[in-house]
Amino acid sequence: MAPLALALAVAAAAVPLARAGVYPIAESMAGDNFLQGWNWPDSFYDNTTSGEVFWYGTAEWNSSTPLIYKTDKGTTIMKVDDTSTVVSNPWHTTKRFAPKLLSKRAYSVGTVWVLDAVHMPYGCSVWPAFWTVGPKWPVGGEIDIMEGIHNQPVNQMALHSAEDGCYAPQTNQALMTGDWGSLNCSIGYSYGAGCTARDNDPTSYGAGFAAAGGGVFVAEWAPEAIKIWFVPRAKVPASMTADAKSIDTSILGMPTGYWGNKDCVFTRYFGPQTLILQTTLCGVWAGLESTLAPNGCSAYPSGQDCYTTYVNGDGSNYRNAYYEINYVNIFSTAVSTTPGVEGGLPADGPVAGNNNLGRQQSTSVSASVATQSDGATSLVMVTLTQNIPDVAAAPTGVPTKNGAMSRFGSAATLAALAVFVAGLF
Ligand SMILES: *[C@@H]1O[C@H](CO)[C@@H](O)[C@H](O)[C@H]1NC(C)=O
Ligand SMILES: *[C@@H]1O[C@H](CO)[C@@H](O)[C@H](O)[C@H]1NC(C)=O
Ligand SMILES: *[C@@H]1O[C@H](CO)[C@@H](O)[C@H](O)[C@H]1NC(C)=O
Repeated sequence: MAPLALALAVAAAAVPLARAGVYPIAESMAGDNFLQGWNWPDSFYDNTTSGEVFWYGTAEWNSSTPLIYKTDKGTTIMKVDDTSTVVSNPWHTTKRFAPKLLSKRAYSVGTVWVLDAVHMPYGCSVWPAFWTVGPKWPVGGEIDIMEGIHNQPVNQMALHSAEDGCYAPQTNQALMTGDWGSLNCSIGYSYGAGCTARDNDPTSYGAGFAAAGGGVFVAEWAPEAIKIWFVPRAKVPASMTADAKSIDTSILGMPTGYWGNKDCVFTRYFGPQTLILQTTLCGVWAGLESTLAPNGCSAYPSGQDCYTTYVNGDGSNYRNAYYEINYVNIFSTAVSTTPGVEGGLPADGPVAGNNNLGRQQSTSVSASVATQSDGATSLVMVTLTQNIPDVAAAPTGVPTKNGAMSRFGSAATLAALAVFVAGLF
């Protein structure tokens, strides 16, 4: 027996077994390569949260004000348009451009997603998120790694399942540093809030995050649990760098949020997850007036709403609505060949000018609206007008330049727009 045991020991030493918590790098998005792992969204509108943004990057025009670009330090800025003037429009067909990026590949159990940033978007009406989504939302689940609204004091994490059966029991409190909110992950429960956990570190979000030099969000989907860490800048291990060949989550200590597999069979409720980094404005959460006071924003002036109060105007409300990113890394025990949820255009558009990693930006959208015989309203024509220095001077309802018309060629998109506009009445 002894020689065999020795032989096995030698073999084990020669070929180290994969240790739980150690994952090799699969993809790294940083610096000049920041855009290579992402797709732009298929949709031009924010059709997941009804935010008052147009997704930047899907268009094909050049702009003097890119919203995604590399800095001299090698970090990547990804910002809400804070320089264009957005004139109020009763149909909300004028909005503000903001970027949304979706990973080209989706990953399953055995994966760690990492965002290292020195600044994150915040401010009244601003709603950033670093999250993952399954194949056919809400089927396939959702993991919200970093999310918040307005001047929220700390980060809020959440899991969402399409069906009943996925929970986050309070007993897990001993396994994590954050605090539970809602425990029922089902989308049908409590207006779809999900099973939420709050960090209690004021540097995990917004101005506090920026003042402390940011930090790193880490989400691990292991067989036994989904775990999320926020690691403040001062505590980031030296091994966690953009070019790290692997990550060992066992050195991170107790996670901020811990959802155990016993209480939610993740392989049943969660499919391959597409990673998403975005910022929207207003919408179904940040657009609610009741969310203002608890998150450091004053009530709207009389007769105003989120769109007219914040999105309209010169954009100065959005000076802090940007990410400054060191890197986004995906580590996984398995190479993924699963495409992300939206095929989209690859986010590797023309590099126009210094540091411009991004594609182009339009500054105004106009639409014609028809009233049908039954009184319902539908959209019949949309066009985008390019690089208008003064949007106030742009004609509305008239196709001034239709280089963008092909983007609206599909009946499905037109139908979606019609539903969207009809929903405003
Ligand atoms: C949003 O629109 C895009 C493009 O039509 C589509 O691929 C995606 O599934 C839509 N998302 C939702 C949640 O409807
Ligand atoms: C969790 O939410 C689902 C969907 O609304 C509901 O059917 C189920 O009863 C809830 N479970 C508990 C324990 O409240
Ligand atoms: C955008 O900029 C790129 C790179 O400078 C150029 O090749 C392209 O023709 C421009 N596109 C338009 C529509 O102006």
